Amino acid sequence: MLLTIFVLCLIPLTRYYQIDQPLIRRFRSARKVDPLALHAAGEFVENNLGTEFNSDGSVTLRMIAQQYLFVPHCVAIPTAVPVHLRITSADVVHSLAIEGTDYVVKIVPGAISQVTLEFPKPGIYKTVCREFCGAGHYDMRSEFRVLPKSAFPRMGSSDRGYCAAQ
Ligand code: CUA
Repeated sequence: MLLTIFVLCLIPLTRYYQIDQPLIRRFRSARKVDPLALHAAGEFVENNLGTEFNSDGSVTLRMIAQQYLFVPHCVAIPTAVPVHLRITSADVVHSLAIEGTDYVVKIVPGAISQVTLEFPKPGIYKTVCREFCGAGHYDMRSEFRVLPKSAFPRMGSSDRGYCAAQ
């Protein structure tokens, strides 16, 4: 009985030291950000989250992953343009998987994960967290609302695209 408990405790510990810690270290050395100060200052403050149009026609999408939601919960993006997703975690390791695509993005606190996505077809793409992150893990979902480029509302340089704004 004691042995079973010991082994059960050992599994998450081993995982932390063998997988999480090296990952956290690798990501931290790349692009640092303070997970506790995301809402206070920097590019992940609340009114800077969502989609932003860049002068070259591409889009930057900024999001935060936290137990147990993605912020913003729903984002609007246009079809057929490069979408530079920049995402970080406010707490533990998460992973954003976009259903219907091969995109899976690992999200580590203290670092910014950046990937470029592209959606050729309009539609509603459900996203889920693929990294077990606690009791609410299975409810950690969000939505990408991909609208035809021609139908996408014009946005000013300080506007950010959320679903509610559409
Ligand atoms: Cu976040 Cu699982």
